[in-house]
Amino acid sequence: MTNNAEKKRRQEYVIGDVSNFPEGSHKVVKVGRREIGVFNVGGKLYGLPNICPHQTGPLCEGRPPLGTLVARGENDWKFEWVSEGEIVACPWHGLEYHVPTGRCLAYPNVVLRSYEVFRDGDEVKVRL
Ligand code: FES
Repeated sequence: MTNNAEKKRRQEYVIGDVSNFPEGSHKVVKVGRREIGVFNVGGKLYGLPNICPHQTGPLCEGRPPLGTLVARGENDWKFEWVSEGEIVACPWHGLEYHVPTGRCLAYPNVVLRSYEVFRDGDEVKVRL
């Protein structure tokens, strides 16, 4: 099946008006039985499951996405603040995930599935 045929086969659901998802926002929407965290990072929309792989915490219901501190050898191991507005922390035990990639910072082999979220005129839709 081609990529376009696959996209047409998948269902699209309206989850709100564009004005409900301003830059820097995050909210959890319900689509059928699924809860999806929708993030607007720098004007781009991302969808992640609202369930943490650690112990099923409500991953996307925590504080607004922030950045994180890292220390790298090429920067003489000094701490630096990176990925501003791209890191969501699970409210239960604090595991952090990179919103654009779904990758867990502490366990990089753990990657969340992602949902395609996109603007269609004045509406925002998710494709499942
Ligand atoms: S349930 Fe998310 S960090 Fe534990």
